Amino acid sequence: MDIAPHVVLLPFPAQGHIKPMLILAQLLCHGGSFNITFVNTEYNHHRLLKLIDQPAFSRLFPTLQFMSIPDGLSPEHPRAGPSVVDLFFSTSSVSKPEFRNLIVSLSQEPTCIIADGIMSFAVDVADELGIPVITFRTYSATCTWIYFHLQKLIQNGEIPVLQGNEDMDTQISCIPGLENVLRRRDLPSICKLEADSPILQFYITQASKMTRASALILNTFQELETPMITHLQSIFPTVYTSGPLHSLLNSIIVDSPSKNSSSLIEMDESCIKWLDAQHPKSVLYVSFGSVIVLSHDQFLEFWYGLVNSGKPFLWAIRPDLIVDYNGPNNIPEELKWASKEMGCIVSWAPQEDVLAHQSIGGFLTHSGWNSTLESIYSGVPMICWPMIADQQVNSRCVSEMWKVGLDLKDTCDRSTVEKLVRDVMENKVEEVMASTVKNARLAHDSIHEGGSSHGNIKKLVQDIISIHS
Ligand code: UDX
Repeated sequence: MDIAPHVVLLPFPAQGHIKPMLILAQLLCHGGSFNITFVNTEYNHHRLLKLIDQPAFSRLFPTLQFMSIPDGLSPEHPRAGPSVVDLFFSTSSVSKPEFRNLIVSLSQEPTCIIADGIMSFAVDVADELGIPVITFRTYSATCTWIYFHLQKLIQNGEIPVLQGNEDMDTQISCIPGLENVLRRRDLPSICKLEADSPILQFYITQASKMTRASALILNTFQELETPMITHLQSIFPTVYTSGPLHSLLNSIIVDSPSKNSSSLIEMDESCIKWLDAQHPKSVLYVSFGSVIVLSHDQFLEFWYGLVNSGKPFLWAIRPDLIVDYNGPNNIPEELKWASKEMGCIVSWAPQEDVLAHQSIGGFLTHSGWNSTLESIYSGVPMICWPMIADQQVNSRCVSEMWKVGLDLKDTCDRSTVEKLVRDVMENKVEEVMASTVKNARLAHDSIHEGGSSHGNIKKLVQDIISIHS
């Protein structure tokens, strides 16, 4: 067959999902010369195209086209914080028929569809149209495995987890491979909901639909999560672990304009100059990702904790990060003054470059999966403050399984923040430092020729070619 395979990718409409899927699209375009159709929601389509260096992008990836479908929400709808769940239901109802119409209108029939695990309506569409579908879960293997046990957790009475309840530290017993690791407080945030909650039920349905896909793609690497990947192979005969995807792409296309092309928010590069002037490993980087929001009180506790630790910090504060922010007048003068002396604040940082910078010695993070993986790859120890979705699981893996950071879970009072910052930046907990170096090396090995993730991307390309021929 002369014409190249055509792959359609459908991410869930949020930064942390679009980024790894767009990187995968670029890798398939580059490695397999595939025709790619990347389908965003209209809201994100415009944001992304505004920030992409389009001529450079088209030169590098001439066979990658962007298309869009509605997400079913009004343009003014806040899509961060708790409102992000509205997208679950609106995409399932409104985007599903739109996605079907888009697929049948394409001039080349797709060889396969790669759909985000929480856009599993794509599995229905693919089944109806007789197109093979592969599911991409943008979470860790560990968290993906947990999501397949939600029903069992309900049956065993291990959820709902009641916040503030003393049994938050009870071990979870019904998930194979995680019996001695997970406590109730480490489960995904949806486990705090009642069993019949539409959001919890939505996740159960998504997990079940995912199993109808022919294979699973994960942005992780084999050496980090071997036991969990083996468990997932009991559900999916083929699991492609190809992470860290950002570093795999950067190693293949060095210094390309595609490097920061998957951001929906404009990056403020000025912080790199500020980092250049700091001592090696002296700066704590702080970012809470693209979705979670803080109350004004939590924001101040973190800020005091940072200032009281006496360590220089670079903080990415999104304009919509503080939910009840009522202007700079409500920020104590002492904090503003101290931050001028010892801090650098931007609204959105070039995070990959920041984590790779020699001045960075630690990362205070919300434990989003992309941030976690980027930090592991860069060998930066973490302080985790998880809030929603998979973040509670990630922070437990970071602190207990991989020992590449400390878990601040469920509290952010200024004295605890200060203590953990000192532990990571000053006392340099030995076990954490050694494990951070080891896992960074494993991550680097995985993306190079002969490495597991490098090999899995090649296998994915080959497998798609065989579907096509
Ligand atoms: C969301 C969920 O919160 C997360 O738990 C899930 O794993 C993926 O979807 P998000 O909150 O955005 O993602 O966090 P994360 O997964 O860490 O992704 C954020 C991305 O934005 C990272 O790739 C990071 O490099 C980038 N980023 C973040 C920047 O480029 N600049 C910043 O200032 C902050």
